[in-house]
Amino acid sequence: MPAKRDFISISDFSFDEIQEIFKKTEELKKNKFQTVFKNKAVGLIFQKPSLRTRVSFQVGVWQLGGQCMSLSPAEVNIGVRETIKDAALTLSRYLDLIVARVFKHKEVEELAQYSLVPVINGLSDLFHPCQALADIFTVKEKRGALKGQTLAYIGDGNNVCNSLLQITSMLGMNMRVGAPKGYGPNKDILMLAQVQAAKMGASAVVTHDPKEAAYDVDVLYTDVWASMGQEKEAARRAKIFKKYQINKDLVGVAKKSALVMHCLPAHRGQEITEDVMDSPNSVVFDEAENRLHVQKAIMMKLLEGR
Ligand code: CP
Ligand code: NVA
Repeated sequence: MPAKRDFISISDFSFDEIQEIFKKTEELKKNKFQTVFKNKAVGLIFQKPSLRTRVSFQVGVWQLGGQCMSLSPAEVNIGVRETIKDAALTLSRYLDLIVARVFKHKEVEELAQYSLVPVINGLSDLFHPCQALADIFTVKEKRGALKGQTLAYIGDGNNVCNSLLQITSMLGMNMRVGAPKGYGPNKDILMLAQVQAAKMGASAVVTHDPKEAAYDVDVLYTDVWASMGQEKEAARRAKIFKKYQINKDLVGVAKKSALVMHCLPAHRGQEITEDVMDSPNSVVFDEAENRLHVQKAIMMKLLEGR
C-alpha cells in the first residue's frame, strides 16, 4: 500500500499533482456518478459550523459510491472528550478518510500525524485549502490559462487568503492583498509565496490601499471580515474594514471582465455589496459548486492505491 498522504495545505501537492487534480475535476464534473469508493467510509469532523464543506463532501462521497458521516462537536468534541491522538487512532480503525474542520491549525496537523488514514483539512485558522483549489479551478474554467492572471484579495488576510497565496504563487498567478494594517496574511506564508511566485515569474504583494490592490485585476476576491471564532471582534472589525468592501466603485477599478469571487458565507452589505454579489461578473455559486467536484478529485488522489 502506498504511504498515507494528507491534504492539510496546498503545499502538500506539487504543481503537476494540482494539474492532475484539475483534469480529474473536469472529468468528474461531466461524469458525476462513479463507484470508486464502493466499501469506503469517510468521516467529517466539524468543530465549527459549515454548509458547503459538509454538504459537498457528503454528496461527493455518495456520488462516488461510498458512505459518509458528519460528526458535530456535540458528538465528538475531539481534543476535549479524548485526546486528538486517541480519536485519530480509533477513527483509523473504522474510516478510510477523515475530513476535519478545526479552530487551531495544529489540531488538524496532530490529527494527520496520528491518523493511519488520509486527513483533509476542511478549514483551520491558518488555511482553507479545499476552497482555494475550487476557486482557482473556477478561474481556470472561466479563463483558460492561469499563468499571468492577477487576483486581488480585498479584506482580512485570513485562512482563505493564506491558501490563495499558496496556490496562486505555485501556479504563476499574481496576487495582491488589500488589507488594513495589522490584518495582512500570515507573514511566513507571504514570504514563501513571494519566493515561489518569483520563480514562476509572478508576484505576491500586500498593500493597505484597496484600490491599488484592485487596479486592472482579472479577479476580485473577498471573504468575511470576522471569521468563525472571531465573532466577538465583529463590530470592531466592521469599522476597521469599512473601506475594504467590494462594491461598484472598486469593481470599476478592476478589468471590465473581472471575476468577482467569495468563498461564502457572505455578509451582503459588509465585505461585498448586494449588487456586486448578484452581478453577471460574480461566480460565487460556481465556486461553491466546484467545491463538490474538486473535493472528489482530492479524495480520489489521496485514496489512490489504498
Ligand atoms: N466556504 C465554506 O467553506 O463554506 P462553509 O463554511 O459553509 O463550509
Ligand atoms: N474565513 C472564513 C471562511 C469561511 C468559509 C472563516 O474562517 O470563518
